[in-house]
Formats: sequence, C-alpha cells, structure tokens
Amino acid sequence: MANELDFSGKVALITGAASGLGAATARWLDAHGIAELVLVDLDRPALSELGLSCKVTPFGGNLGGTFLALRCAMRSMGRPGSGGARGGSIVLTGSVLGLRATAPIDYGASKAAVANMAQIAGREGAPHGIRVNAVSPGGMDTPIGYAMDMVRQEAGRLGTRTAALEEMARASVPLGKFTAPDEIAGQIGFLLSDLAALITGTVLVSDRRYSI
Ligand SMILES: NC(=O)c1ccc[n+]([C@@H]2O[C@H](COP(=O)([O-])OP(=O)(O)OC[C@H]3O[C@@H](n4cnc5c(N)ncnc54)[C@H](O)[C@@H]3O)[C@@H](O)[C@H]2O)c1
Repeated sequence: MANELDFSGKVALITGAASGLGAATARWLDAHGIAELVLVDLDRPALSELGLSCKVTPFGGNLGGTFLALRCAMRSMGRPGSGGARGGSIVLTGSVLGLRATAPIDYGASKAAVANMAQIAGREGAPHGIRVNAVSPGGMDTPIGYAMDMVRQEAGRLGTRTAALEEMARASVPLGKFTAPDEIAGQIGFLLSDLAALITGTVLVSDRRYSI
C-alpha cells in the first residue's frame, strides 16, 4: 500500500520558517522524506540552525502578505512543471481568533480573511489541480504567544511560562491543554499530503475546541 504521508521527491515552500509553527512544519516535512524545502523568514540566520537533512534553500526576505504569497504560489503551480505535471497543495495559517470576537481587530479580521481566501482559492484552484486549505490553530506555545501581555502577567504570577500556559488552557480550552507547534505541523502535513487529496477550500479548526 502506498504511503500517502511520504513526501519524497516533493518540494515545499514555508513562510515564517525560522520559528514556531513554520519551523515545526519544516521539521515534520523533513521527517517525512521531503526532497527540498524553500524556507522564507525575516530572520535568515535562524533558518540555517534548523538542522534539517533535506536540501534547504533559505530566503531572508520579507514575504509581506498572505494574498500575494498565495497568488504567486498558485500561478507557479498552475504552470506545467518539467515533467508536464501541474498542481499542488497549499495550506494557509489562520487562527481561531479569526472566528471569535476577542482579538485586536486587525489580527482577527486578517485571520478571518485568511479563512475566506482558502475557501475561494480552493474553488479557483480546483480546475488546475491545486488544493488550498487553511488551518486555524488555537493558542500555541511559540514566541508570538510569549509576547502577549496576558501570558507575561500570568507567568509573572505563577513563576514560569509553562505554568502560565497550563493555567490558561485549564481556564479557557475545553480539551484542557495548550497546543505545541508540532501538533499543528502534523495537521498541516496531513492537508499537504495525498491523504487529503479530496479536501480543498476547507478551514481545519484545530483548537481543542477553544472557539466553542
Ligand atoms: N502562536 C499562537 O498562539 C498562534 C495561534 C493561532 C495562529 N497563529 C499563527 O501561526 C503563524 C505562525 O506563528 P508562530 O506562533 O509560529 O509565530 P513565531 O513568532 O514563532 O514565528 C513567526 C516567524 O515568522 C517570521 N516572519 C514574520 N513576519 C515575516 C515576514 N513578513 N516575512 C518573512 N518572515 C516573517 C518571523 O521572523 C518568525 O520566524 C502566524 O500566522 C500566527 O498568526 C499562532
């Protein structure tokens, strides 16, 4: 039986790859045999510290905007490659804060737009063999999270960041746990893989039911 989670011979591009979810996704794809990763991050030096075994092409640029990156990727996937094949799979990163009215308006609205973009791009890409989905995580244990005032205050009160995240998850996440970026990386890997060949235009809300 074919291993549909095998990425050998494939190439992926990851934005924000130096930290948090991007780095976890790079490691996940590397562990699943990907041939090449094109990694984009403002922090280029950190890209070479990821310790990946596949071929890595780092870009230290500013990739401003999900829409522009999506349009670029779809244009390139829509053109036949060297073997004549075209198509591919794209996963955008949303957030449960695009579903709830609790975030600052710029962040919440931008993440709501990401979900809508995945739905529209999924429909537009289908005739070209391009699948587009989004994942909307709840709170993840990454540097963005540490920067939040609420987390810093709780960490000050309880002594450590881990204690703060555990306490916040107990109080507000029905499934009672904060999420590790590796867990979301696995969900992204699934959506990228052939196991998800029949899924496009979907928003996978992966938040231990925080958005309830
Ligand atoms: N951490 C959470 O709780 C959480 C929850 C839901 C969704 N998200 C989303 O997950 C995604 C990844 O966040 P993270 O938690 O891994 O954050 P992170 O801070 O750990 O990593 C973000 C990375 O993106 C890079 N970056 C930022 N702007 C860039 C730009 N314009 N061009 C190139 N690189 C850029 C940074 O240098 C950094 O390495 C974000 O879209 C975030 O909104 C995070």
